[in-house]
Amino acid sequence: MSDAASPQVPKPEPTRRDFLYVATAAVGAVGAAATLVPLISQMEPDASTIAAGGPIDFDIGKIEPGGQVRTTWRSRPIFIVHRTPAILKELQSQQLVSRLSDPTSSVRQQPPYAQNWHRSIKPEFLVLVGICTHLGCIPMFYPQPSDSQPAAGWLGGYFCPCHGSKYDLAGRVFAGVPAPYNLPVPPHHYVGSDKIRIGENPPGKTFDFGSIVQI
Ligand code: FES
Repeated sequence: MSDAASPQVPKPEPTRRDFLYVATAAVGAVGAAATLVPLISQMEPDASTIAAGGPIDFDIGKIEPGGQVRTTWRSRPIFIVHRTPAILKELQSQQLVSRLSDPTSSVRQQPPYAQNWHRSIKPEFLVLVGICTHLGCIPMFYPQPSDSQPAAGWLGGYFCPCHGSKYDLAGRVFAGVPAPYNLPVPPHHYVGSDKIRIGENPPGKTFDFGSIVQI
């Protein structure tokens, strides 16, 4: 039978489940790569703690200003960013804020104690679930402003290579991209000046991560 006579079967649209499968596989690869980097492995909680799915403690004292490290909580990639004064200033600039879809984090994508302009407890440190709210790919970290990379007029933030969604360095999504919501912020709090506990609320705070609109 020639191609011309073949029945045309429409290709199914990719679903969020399809992309989450890809994202999960990518997390595994990231985890394997991280074991090769001594600095990262020193900061990581031990494997049994991660596997248990409970809260994890993470040493943030060694994260370079302007840098990001990744860990895993409940099988999800977690991004932790040490933001510089310049980054914090940019997060409040009208040039940036006017381009965001939900600059005040009105949609429940974070705990109430992170519903602020920096979407965290301490402005210097950002904690995000690194899963794009479009179809679940893992966004890439591009902290430096650029005229052209990864997109024209880049101000610094996260770029999702799957369909081009963009987020700033507070995980706030830009308007006009496929992703509908800001990146989720997991429950977290400080258990020391340089240690953060991911997966647990601060004392006296109640927040159910399951109430997040889109993971
Ligand atoms: S999964 Fe589609 S833009 Fe991120």
